[in-house]
Amino acid sequence: MPVEITERGHLKYSEKVLERFKNPKNIGELENPTVVVSEGDPTCGDMFKMFLRIEHGTIVDVKFLSFGCAANIATGDMTADLIKGKKIEEAEKLQIKDIIEGLGGVPAIKMHCAVLAYKTLKKAISEYKKMETGNSKL
Ligand code: FES
Repeated sequence: MPVEITERGHLKYSEKVLERFKNPKNIGELENPTVVVSEGDPTCGDMFKMFLRIEHGTIVDVKFLSFGCAANIATGDMTADLIKGKKIEEAEKLQIKDIIEGLGGVPAIKMHCAVLAYKTLKKAISEYKKMETGNSKL
């Protein structure tokens, strides 16, 4: 798939990606998170950190820090919006295509940046489930 380039020589992003990159609503650290996880992308060396506050099995707040590119910031922000207010079981069903569709697409060359946000979410849910299993054994 050819890489789309703007007339100014930049990678062509959708308007939604550009808007979320410029004005991410969910960026930052969360106070008193239930789960904090980081994930790295070996292809570019970038990192993504996700904070979830979970109450009674519902994700009540989400924040993230991106040490990545515009596509990573935009997909992180979209991911946060898609899971906020959802039960863990619902958030688990989120597919990478839901994030990509919500953004009006992501250039193929930047798919790994979206995967990084998605993988971090999967890791956060997995950590939460481990914590829950541990607590139920007490
Ligand atoms: Fe590394 Fe996008 S290039 S996250």
